[in-house]
Amino acid sequence: MTRWTASRIRSSKGKSRLACLTAYDYATARLVDEAGVPLVLVGDSLAMTMLGYETTLPVTLAEMLHHTSAVVRGVSNALVVADMPFMSYQVSIEQALENAGRFIKEAGAGAVKIEGGALRAPLVRALVQNGIPVLGHIGLTPQSIRETGGYKVQGRRSEEAERLLADAGELARAGIFALVLECMPAGLGTEITASGPVPTIGIGAGPGCDGQILVTHDLLGLYSGVTPKFVKQYAAVGETMARAFETYRQEVEDGAFPTEEQSY
Ligand code: KIV
Repeated sequence: MTRWTASRIRSSKGKSRLACLTAYDYATARLVDEAGVPLVLVGDSLAMTMLGYETTLPVTLAEMLHHTSAVVRGVSNALVVADMPFMSYQVSIEQALENAGRFIKEAGAGAVKIEGGALRAPLVRALVQNGIPVLGHIGLTPQSIRETGGYKVQGRRSEEAERLLADAGELARAGIFALVLECMPAGLGTEITASGPVPTIGIGAGPGCDGQILVTHDLLGLYSGVTPKFVKQYAAVGETMARAFETYRQEVEDGAFPTEEQSY
């Protein structure tokens, strides 16, 4: 199998649909990669799914680097994209370059993701010109919830929709290889997809995008927080784990485990 790269993802536009997932640890990354997923995102959603925070804001650069290198060790074919955490790229272009470089050099990621529209175009240009592929992310951008006031569908009003269309164009011109569209009306997802040269990867942006991404914990039924409308749960792994833990406890308490079979 040929390895997925940022340029291969970019040139898949109009040829194949991209089924992308998040992963935060070695074992899950291996399974996701073996399933043939082309892009594995080490999302800052790990702040919530793995570390138990209420938002993505507290996760640190050190924590993101630690999880990204574990994912890289589990992946053979997919492109691993590291999400740059809150305040690791907003302060200055110089600091963002340094931090993004650590994801590539130290953690072994193939690209980074940053949130935001036209405002981020100069940063995207600087990263790309220095050899760091960038995945854009517009629509609902969870790192801005303190300013936007919560997890709301974006682009319902026509001026908002126009701004998002313009953001997508600016980011494409700046050099992103693909663009995450989060939580927007399906019609707008389709319109942005049709308007630009790079693949769009939707999460709550309807079926008209070039690809989709889900948080793996949501797909597996492993996360006990709020589940958004756009999630489809493909398995009930949380329930299976809870049953296994309970049965184990019961068997140890009853003396049913271990038996001769598990003894030397
Ligand atoms: O952090 C994350 O998992 C993400 C995806 C939801 C796109 O940004």
